[in-house]
Amino acid sequence: MPDVEQARVLALETSCDETAAAIVENGRALLSSVVASQMELHARYGGVYPEVASRQHVLSITPVVEQALSQAQLTLKDIDALAVTQGPGLAGSLVVGMNMAKGIATGANKPLIGVNHLEGHLYSAWVYTAGEQPPPEPRFPLMALLVSGGHTELNLMTDHLTYQPLGSTLDDAAGEAFDKVARLLGLPYPGGPSIQQAAEMGGRARFKFPRSWLDDTWNFSFSGVKTAVLYEVNDLKKKNGPLPVADLAASFQEAVVDVLFKKTLKASREFGAKEILVAGGVSANSALRKIFRSQSEFPVHIPPLSLCTDNAAMIAAAGYQRFVLGHVSELDLDVLPTWPLSQIKYSSPVRTCPSP
Ligand code: KG4
Ligand code: ZN
Repeated sequence: MPDVEQARVLALETSCDETAAAIVENGRALLSSVVASQMELHARYGGVYPEVASRQHVLSITPVVEQALSQAQLTLKDIDALAVTQGPGLAGSLVVGMNMAKGIATGANKPLIGVNHLEGHLYSAWVYTAGEQPPPEPRFPLMALLVSGGHTELNLMTDHLTYQPLGSTLDDAAGEAFDKVARLLGLPYPGGPSIQQAAEMGGRARFKFPRSWLDDTWNFSFSGVKTAVLYEVNDLKKKNGPLPVADLAASFQEAVVDVLFKKTLKASREFGAKEILVAGGVSANSALRKIFRSQSEFPVHIPPLSLCTDNAAMIAAAGYQRFVLGHVSELDLDVLPTWPLSQIKYSSPVRTCPSP
């Protein structure tokens, strides 16, 4: 390969309920991204049904990879490395992407890189559509707020792939709280977008839901606000009046966004961050995007909407950063259903890349 810096990475992502493949060049320029969502399949269960998810990944993975290549008008010969989500996620789902990636890597004789899904979410902020004006690259030290369905954490990124964990949720993840409160309010799965939509017509000051500041730490807690909504709903139901769903949704969303924003801002000041990055499924939330964009004294990077929820472009972008450092995996790589960001260990470099 002539130039490692320009490497094209084909990535696969199957950690939960989206079957995704994407190709990214130079760690930033998105050449193609395909996401086959299983949302409708799981909606009837009110959440992700793991067995159903892995079976659907098996059906979707080949056409999704083929589509990613054809959209980019490339063949496997044009790809420099394969990246795949190694974890965290559902074991039965992860193995489908992992085995497909191993198969392609072996068949096409390309290096394989196992990528942490959370690291992937953070790197979604580096991606832009090829051919468009690249947005400014995030600068370190960078305060990174990761808010997804399974995780809520604050990390100070002092350099590429270097995370200082500051805090995380002690109970529910922010996205999980959105999903659970949506269910309480009778709103459809997935809860985040449903709450956001309902909240548009609601009064965010109507209910004063509690905020867990956990002031001496950088941790979060969302079970208190979830329980407060439950009590309020039960009280209102006892009175037999119509449930003010829009006001409940708006007030709940306000409580969550308020804590996420203020704690991230405070941490950025205390740790001397230059900029802020917000990523993960909940970063698609319009109220969260608005407050970070309008009220932060730091430049804020939030991925485009299509890259907030699970996708493979983010795995390619993170995989690229690993690839340029020579963090290439062996073919006996196994999935890691539980794999905190703080426990990423690469025996670096496993394989030395050719210098540019
Ligand atoms: O990152 P993601 O796609 O999957 C995980 O890695 O967990 O995040 C999914 C989560 C779900 O909990 C979903 O309800 C939430 O992100 N979410 C939102 C919005 N869109 C997705 N939460 C709030 N507002 C949204 N617009
Ligand atoms: Zn995710």
